[in-house]
Amino acid sequence: MNEEPPTTTDRRVLLITGASSGIGAATARHACAEDWRVVLAARSQERLEALADELGGPERALAVRCDVTEWEDQQRMVSTAMGTFGRIDAAFANAGFGGPRGFLKDTPEHWREMVLTNIYGAALTLRATIPALTDSRGHLLLTSSVAGRRVLPGSMYSCTKHAVTAMGEAARQDLQGTGVRVTLIEPGMTDTPFFENRPQEALQADDIARAVMFALSQPPHMDVNELLIRPTAQPG
Ligand SMILES: NC(=O)c1ccc[n+]([C@@H]2O[C@H](COP(=O)([O-])OP(=O)(O)OC[C@H]3O[C@@H](n4cnc5c(N)ncnc54)[C@H](OP(=O)(O)O)[C@@H]3O)[C@@H](O)[C@H]2O)c1
Repeated sequence: MNEEPPTTTDRRVLLITGASSGIGAATARHACAEDWRVVLAARSQERLEALADELGGPERALAVRCDVTEWEDQQRMVSTAMGTFGRIDAAFANAGFGGPRGFLKDTPEHWREMVLTNIYGAALTLRATIPALTDSRGHLLLTSSVAGRRVLPGSMYSCTKHAVTAMGEAARQDLQGTGVRVTLIEPGMTDTPFFENRPQEALQADDIARAVMFALSQPPHMDVNELLIRPTAQPG
């Protein structure tokens, strides 16, 4: 029997926002190691291009500059992905950032950017990718947080992540009957550039990437709805 090896175009396509760093970049590396093609989106074009080169160049990884708060960027991200790879099998709405706790600690301008990135940006990624995911009977993943499951004092960030948790469940219900699966990834403290000072006894970005790959590798009838992951040492 002559079995043909899979061709490049058989490889599934994972689109990741926030792919220039941390959890997004680690997920891209794990996905490529498991034979996915990846679309890498963020604002730092040079970092994305360096990662795309590392992952095997244009046949395996596509770098697309995208500010997730801009609808035009999100639409261009998806049309570039479709034009290059012809399909999107999974989309990981992962771009986001935090801020200081205390309602008088952060500036209104920083709140605005955080709300626009963490909530509106994730919603735009969902909106931009749903048609392609419906065609592929694909998989939508969103990065919420432990802070999207338990309220942290004075944390506007925690409020944005509760919105993302709600968005994941709202999307899951909305996409019923399409075959699209929805997974909320809810990391605890993870050692990435998210923190100015490196956290101790934290998870690594690779730990979260493995959780993403676990959700992605399940059979079509099984939807891993949520993965809440803390470092063993994290009390709250
Ligand atoms: N680290 C943790 O402990 C932790 C815990 C729970 C949840 N999370 C969540 O995990 C996700 C990834 O964070 P991380 O820990 O990997 O931190 P990170 O290394 O700082 O990565 C954040 C990513 O988001 C991108 N980003 C920020 N604003 C953006 C915008 N307007 N448009 C496009 N991309 C944007 C950044 O890229 P550019 O700057 O190049 O645009 C970067 O790639 C975030 O949603 C974060 O809230 C993190």
